[in-house]
Amino acid sequence: MSTTANIELDGKTYTLPTVVGTEQEKAIDISNLRAVSGYITLDDGYGNTGSCQSKITFIDGDQGILRYRGIPIEELAEKSTFVETSYLVIYGHLPNRTELRGFSDLLTKYQYLHEDMRFHFQGFPAGGHPMPILSAMINAASCFDTDLMNWHWGKRHEFDVYAARLLSQVRTIAAFSYRKSHGLPLIYPKKSYKYTANFLHMMFSMPYEDFELRPEVVRALDLIFLLHADHEQNCSTATVRLVASSQANLFASASAGVCALWGPLHGGANQAVVEMLEQIHKEGDDGSKFIAAAKDKNSGRRLMGFGHRIYKNYDPRAKIIKRACDQVLSALNINDPLLEIAKHLEAAALRDSYFVERKLYPNVDFYSGIIMRALGVPVEMFPVVFAIGRMPGWIANYKEIMEEPKSRIYRPRQVYMGPTLNHFVPIEERV
Ligand code: SDX
Repeated sequence: MSTTANIELDGKTYTLPTVVGTEQEKAIDISNLRAVSGYITLDDGYGNTGSCQSKITFIDGDQGILRYRGIPIEELAEKSTFVETSYLVIYGHLPNRTELRGFSDLLTKYQYLHEDMRFHFQGFPAGGHPMPILSAMINAASCFDTDLMNWHWGKRHEFDVYAARLLSQVRTIAAFSYRKSHGLPLIYPKKSYKYTANFLHMMFSMPYEDFELRPEVVRALDLIFLLHADHEQNCSTATVRLVASSQANLFASASAGVCALWGPLHGGANQAVVEMLEQIHKEGDDGSKFIAAAKDKNSGRRLMGFGHRIYKNYDPRAKIIKRACDQVLSALNINDPLLEIAKHLEAAALRDSYFVERKLYPNVDFYSGIIMRALGVPVEMFPVVFAIGRMPGWIANYKEIMEEPKSRIYRPRQVYMGPTLNHFVPIEERV
């Protein structure tokens, strides 16, 4: 494998070093390209550009491989929990009993919000989408914590507390956002409940009656969180790293990540998938008409939940969620017509040359909404569930950039294509 790359520009040859990752991924290090040649690179959408070297998640999009800290997602999905996997993603190893106990105790200790935050929830209109509320309230939570307001990278020894606080409180904020938008009384977390059970409790219990925590429901939601824990430099994680690079605090970076995740091309896709399936169902279409529209560039429609920038094979998470779908709906004795429509769409698309030629397969969002629907999660909360699941990945990426000795502020260049030099014209002389 080459250790250098030669680029010939304007009759001169420049030799640049290459970088090879532990999984043999190859890169040309262009850190000095502009200094030596005056050229920069241009890569719309960053499809060919690595922003960092990271040790958290490995994806092989052609093989459909996803590993957190080297452990295959399939093994974690079968044997681990969201909290244990969060520890793995954030700290780089599976916790021993003492570490897991300590981490869980921190999550329990910091699960409550400052009581005055209730008033902020009052300020949002009923029916407001929970994603902007989540982003705003994550930032608001930091305002109530003077230690965090005064925290800086020189105090990185305190990071664990803020990481646990964010991971625990994101669940409480999310549940409170849902309750507020539906005019329901806020339900506080219970010390005796574990992470995911507590979220369901805060979402669906009532003052006079606790929500029935069926093991199948808790396990299914915990699996959804786990499968979303990290995914290398996706749009929202790259956003978190960009904000973190200015040394803004962890909550500010996560708040920005929520905004990026909300987009329908990203974490908002799970909500868009269910809305797409509901529309197909309502129109009595078996999916054929919708697939035809999705192939037509002028239709403005896409087969939501299909396609991926990295996976040019089946998203391994989609396989796991599809299997869990069948198990959960059967356990809950639910017959959801949307699941049948989704399966028909998948089968039809995977036989269709348009999708096959473009290597468009189901991604994590294609089936996750159907499980969440079965669990009783309202559709507008789907991207919020994604954000809770992705929080350990954002925390891990923030920690990684904070601990990188040569960490620099992210500041991409550009190629200017605007007007060349001209001058101010008084309004009297303008046409
Ligand atoms: C997530 O990055 C991550 O890791 C994200 C994520 C994570 O865990 O963080 O995995 C989570 O965001 C999953 C993706 C969820 N989004 C969707 O399901 C929305 C639908 N999918 C697409 O919009 C699209 O596939 C993207 C956004 C996911 C990827 O877009 P790319 O890589 O920029 O690909 P593209 O838009 O350039 O498409 C390439 C071709 C185009 O056709 P041609 O111009 O070659 O003729 O494929 C077509 C596209 O029109 N295409 C689709 C399609 N996705 C791509 N056509 C119909 N339906 C689709 N879903």
